[in-house]
Amino acid sequence: MKTQIAGTHLIRLDKINSTNLYALELLQKKEIHEGTLIIAREQFSGRGQSKNRWESEPGQNLTFSIILHPAFLLPEKQFQLNKFISLALFDFVSELIPGQKVTIKWTNDIYINDKKVAGILINNVIQGNSFLHSVIGIGLNINQTQFTSDAPNPVSLKMITGKNYDLEECLNALCRCIDKRYFQLMSGKTENIDNEYFTHQYRLGYFCPFLYKGEKVIAKITDFDSFGRLLLVMENGGRLSCDQQDLRYVI
Ligand code: BTN
Repeated sequence: MKTQIAGTHLIRLDKINSTNLYALELLQKKEIHEGTLIIAREQFSGRGQSKNRWESEPGQNLTFSIILHPAFLLPEKQFQLNKFISLALFDFVSELIPGQKVTIKWTNDIYINDKKVAGILINNVIQGNSFLHSVIGIGLNINQTQFTSDAPNPVSLKMITGKNYDLEECLNALCRCIDKRYFQLMSGKTENIDNEYFTHQYRLGYFCPFLYKGEKVIAKITDFDSFGRLLLVMENGGRLSCDQQDLRYVI
């Protein structure tokens, strides 16, 4: 792969429970090069956020994990990893399908209009005040056209454009996007990452319905704090600061 970090070492698996689990187990056994990418044709127990399952038809999509060693990052800055990887996927998807509204839905889903085309699951390994490893799992829906699980609003690139995509080409291009954004993160000049993560947010700039701790509220996104909490202002002027489990978008 013509990259400097992402995918420089590649482990290809035909079938595995979850590439994230596989990566975490590998890290317990031996030293792993930064950028090692574990990709599976099929995951029989793919993990999503909030203990959900990740649906992906074998051989139709990209399901992989990348191992990073972001020792330069303080653990309290770990949300920067969500930002950089969301932007890498955003870059890839928006370049591939120009003219479509591609956004990042906090914390790190990639949306095309009101549908989810990719999800990210990050497992960080932190010791004391140091970052040891980060396993970044990516599920990107590419050629699958039917989804059977109860995931609310899945979509694939093919469902949008009608085209079939070469998974290897997609993986290569996506790894280049990951490298680019990871170098940006490592440079320490993260204003662009912060700004772009904000400006490409789903449902930015207007009031819309959310469920906050189960209650319907009409609110507008105003910012994020450094821990990745979403900050909102409600129609009545009240302010909300939300952890991931507190807030649902009403879509
Ligand atoms: C989400 O729920 O949005 C996150 C989905 C993450 C899925 C990917 S597929 C590759 C990696 N291995 C897993 O078990 N999950 C992630």
